[in-house]
Amino acid sequence: MKKMAALQVVMAQPSIAAMASILAPSVVPNYTTSESGNPFVDGWYADPDCAQYNGTYWVYPTSSYDYDQQTYLDAFSSPDLVHWTRHADILTTANFNWATRAVWAPAPIARNGKYYLYFGANDIQETDTIVGGIGVGMSDRPEGPYFDPIGEPLIGAYRNGAQPIDQAVFIDDDGQAYMYYGGHSHANVVKLNEDMISLGILDSSGTQFKEITPTNYVEGPLMFKRNGTYYLMWSEGGWGGPDYAVSYAMSSSPLGPFDRVAKILQQDPAVAVGSGHNGVINVPGTDIWYIVYHRRPLSETEENHRVLAYDRMYFNVDGTIRPVVMLVKDNFEDGNMVGWTDYGGCFAVSNGELTAGPSLGGMALLDTNFTDLVYDADVTISPLSPSADGNAGLVFRVTNVTVGADGYNGYYVGIATAGQVILGKADGGGWTQLGSASMSVTAGTQYHVRVRAMESELLVYVEDMAWPKINVTDASYQGGQDGVRVHGVAASFDNVSIAKP
Ligand SMILES: *[C@@H]1O[C@H](CO)[C@@H](O)[C@H](O)[C@H]1NC(C)=O
Ligand SMILES: *[C@@H]1O[C@H](CO)[C@@H](O)[C@H](O)[C@H]1NC(C)=O
Ligand SMILES: *[C@@H]1O[C@H](CO)[C@@H](O)[C@H](O)[C@H]1NC(C)=O
Ligand SMILES: *[C@@H]1O[C@H](CO)[C@@H](O)[C@H](O)[C@H]1NC(C)=O
Ligand SMILES: *[C@@H]1O[C@H](CO)[C@@H](O)[C@H](O)[C@H]1NC(C)=O
Ligand SMILES: *[C@@H]1O[C@H](CO)[C@@H](O)[C@H](O)[C@H]1NC(C)=O
Ligand SMILES: *[C@@H]1O[C@H](CO)[C@@H](O)[C@H](O)[C@H]1NC(C)=O
Repeated sequence: MKKMAALQVVMAQPSIAAMASILAPSVVPNYTTSESGNPFVDGWYADPDCAQYNGTYWVYPTSSYDYDQQTYLDAFSSPDLVHWTRHADILTTANFNWATRAVWAPAPIARNGKYYLYFGANDIQETDTIVGGIGVGMSDRPEGPYFDPIGEPLIGAYRNGAQPIDQAVFIDDDGQAYMYYGGHSHANVVKLNEDMISLGILDSSGTQFKEITPTNYVEGPLMFKRNGTYYLMWSEGGWGGPDYAVSYAMSSSPLGPFDRVAKILQQDPAVAVGSGHNGVINVPGTDIWYIVYHRRPLSETEENHRVLAYDRMYFNVDGTIRPVVMLVKDNFEDGNMVGWTDYGGCFAVSNGELTAGPSLGGMALLDTNFTDLVYDADVTISPLSPSADGNAGLVFRVTNVTVGADGYNGYYVGIATAGQVILGKADGGGWTQLGSASMSVTAGTQYHVRVRAMESELLVYVEDMAWPKINVTDASYQGGQDGVRVHGVAASFDNVSIAKP
């Protein structure tokens, strides 16, 4: 009866945050990465910043399009960092009479029962006389709509050479709020008053803006506190290129000084490029931390083709941050195959698995480019095609893909209904078997398959990870995409994980 009453309250006040906090599982999200795949949501987004409101995780990104199209912000919420809900148009220029375009890099925070979203708009330049800069939106709910409580930018001009964009907002344990911001390679810190919509002063002489620019700083600052230490993170390099990256400093004061310690997130030519402009999530009551950032998929060259990703962030005992490894995993628990491209094969996600119909050569690929790799996945031949003659498994170092049988260059490991595991290579139409081993194969049984490829040494393991079932040498293909494939049978795939050896 108590449960019914609680649900009725939710129905009467359909706040998404309240609903998610009631429905949220009590399990602590303790992952190595986004185990259900990066990007963790679909669409072009960048510059994510994060909040945790009443048991729900929120991510607020820039909409990654041309400046004139950047007139709105969307947000994403999740009870578990796996299942995400998109909230469209939570803040739009229609509610800010001074903002017209280039709405960038939102920063969320809650105080006194109100939700605040700070953002940059209009991309003003140092000599401009146009209105623009850092604005603040206010709402009763995390998902907005956000309204303009002051009718003008909160910071509307350059100070200390810092373009008024890319703010991060932080409330210290003593209740003092700070804003860190700045584009064009200069960073300032300001205090925010308790109302969160006006600037405070930093010292008795009335200083409002203090320059804190760390070495190599470009833009996108972020502040968080862990174990009494203040961490300032920021982005380096150009956002439109591959070498955009995240570095950080540690300080005993929220006002610095901020001495650069190290770069901790950067491109990996096997996974993604342009990885930067981050937020951070700390699972409340734990020392579990995630870095949430944007990156550009390997096959994309358009600057705005940026996607949202997160990975685990680990600390050393001295409080320094370990380099972040962008892991490649997908357990399909989020019910989608965002990040995969399919070529025939009727791929879909069902019951937390990637499923394929019985095509003659259907393939689904990740936008990766590993050379040496350890590739793990679970492969199940569908019990719906028990008498079929065919195979299903993993492809790696794949290029030149077309739809159809063997229409690619690369390697394939298949579990075959004929009672064996095979390894071979396709050369854009022809197939050469490189090795095979007999094993008992039953439709409906899940087989853990591992490929270990080191230069020309290709090892295949099934179930028994101590001894390779196939061990051959072939130097035809050095790099390319990784994925899954079916040939003549329906199959399902799960727990994909691809890493460097
Ligand atoms: C997270 O998982 C790791 C390994 O599975 C475990 O050692 C650790 O205690 C877990 N942490 C929390 C806070 O649950
Ligand atoms: C959490 O929910 C309570 C009750 O709805 C609300 O008063 C409070 O402001 C919320 N806190 C945050 C951080 O969202
Ligand atoms: C917190 O800092 C203290 C020293 O100030 C250190 O002894 C302790 O190990 C740190 N805790 C964590 C979780 O790093
Ligand atoms: C891709 O196809 C082109 C044209 O057929 C060919 O020249 C090239 O060698 C192929 N790539 C690989 C890695 O085989
Ligand atoms: C694979 O075969 C090579 C050559 O026979 C051998 O040297 C190597 O130890 C084998 N690797 C494994 C993991 O069995
Ligand atoms: C993949 O990596 C290889 C080197 O291993 C490189 O030659 C190739 O250009 C890369 N392909 C893409 C699409 O980045
Ligand atoms: C495979 O993934 C499922 C969820 O999709 C999970 O329940 C299972 O534990 C995973 N198995 C392994 C070996 O990781």
